[in-house]
Amino acid sequence: MSTRQESQGTTEREFKIRGTGRLLEFAFYLPTKVYFGEGIREKLGEEAGNLGQSALIVSDENIIRKIINRKKIEDSLNKAGVKTSLWDGVVANPPLSIAEKGARFARREKCDLIIGLGGGSVIDAAKGIAVMCTNPPPLSLYLGRDRIRKPPLPLIAIPTTAGTGSEVNPYAVFTNTQKTPPQKEIMADPLLFPRIALVDPQLTLSLPPSVTADAGIDALCHAIESYTSKKSRPFSEMLALETIHILAHYLAKAVKDPGNIKIRSYCSYASLLAGMAIAQTGTTLVHGMGYKLSAHLGITHGRANGILLPWVSEFNLQADPPRYTHLAKTLGEKVAGLGYEERAMRAVNGIRRILGEVGQPDRLKGKSIKSDTIEEFAREIMQDKRRLSNNPRLVTFKDVVGIYQKALGNANETQGGSRCVAS
Ligand SMILES: [Fe+2]
Repeated sequence: MSTRQESQGTTEREFKIRGTGRLLEFAFYLPTKVYFGEGIREKLGEEAGNLGQSALIVSDENIIRKIINRKKIEDSLNKAGVKTSLWDGVVANPPLSIAEKGARFARREKCDLIIGLGGGSVIDAAKGIAVMCTNPPPLSLYLGRDRIRKPPLPLIAIPTTAGTGSEVNPYAVFTNTQKTPPQKEIMADPLLFPRIALVDPQLTLSLPPSVTADAGIDALCHAIESYTSKKSRPFSEMLALETIHILAHYLAKAVKDPGNIKIRSYCSYASLLAGMAIAQTGTTLVHGMGYKLSAHLGITHGRANGILLPWVSEFNLQADPPRYTHLAKTLGEKVAGLGYEERAMRAVNGIRRILGEVGQPDRLKGKSIKSDTIEEFAREIMQDKRRLSNNPRLVTFKDVVGIYQKALGNANETQGGSRCVAS
């Protein structure tokens, strides 16, 4: 990780990896061919024709009804000699069973190519279907890291939101309903990188403000977690900082002026860059804690992460004040004349400002979670050694409970069996 040293108001960079003293050492793996631009989805037929003869289009009912012209897509695939079948049964926070069901349909239709057309849930489900078409069931066998045995069917990812980054990363998240209560679990494997990503900002023009904000805040979390993670390297850092800079300027504008294609393009671009960044670094405590909230309360992934981001950042910044100071500046905060710790704290102000501008809470309002449930979440999070070791600051069980309590608006609640209630 590079270190940043500040002197006389300017930032001098040394390309050193934090804690090692080594210079510019990193690996960067991104096997996805990326097309970006207005109308770029028209490349679909040509690219699909190079990968298969029978495509399963994976999507959800809303996208098929409201966002895309199904006939146009099918015609372009047919023209390239690709037969099409449609599976529009994806739901938000997809359970493992959805991907297994979709794969049974794909096998019946003899598909040799998967096209994921939708938001993060759809693209993740499409990844699961691609895995299930070539590997024995159940899909739960492949949860965790590097467990997929045979290469999945090739996947073309076409995001319709600007936030997931799933089109350029090797992760898929599923709700494991076999557990009580249901848990969100990750599948991480280089075999999950899509072969092609077609990122067309026109597809995001009709997104409602709440979806724009939820997805954009997820991308902001990806970037901030990547930038502050222990695996951050100069290359991923560049992607993450550019994302933060763009979203600080344009996310609120996208919420307020949804039909503006220029602003939508910036947000789609930022989401893409953040997806590339976490493909290299992974995420940290925000996502680890956010999965629990999202699965338990049924709130969106982006909203759950957004609620936690300021509290986790406030906790983490002690580990690397210069990095958080640079984050504050990238978020557009003024830090001149402030003390050492105050400058870093401005990063939290910047995050709260953006959350406010897009109408997102920084606390769980109107929801309650039992204290023993929070402790159960914390126990499980403490077992995710890989994610915790990527967090910039050492985390204890007590820290996780404390952060949840702050996000719930009740930092004093500690009694097992009672409830933490949002203010
Ligand atoms: Fe995310």
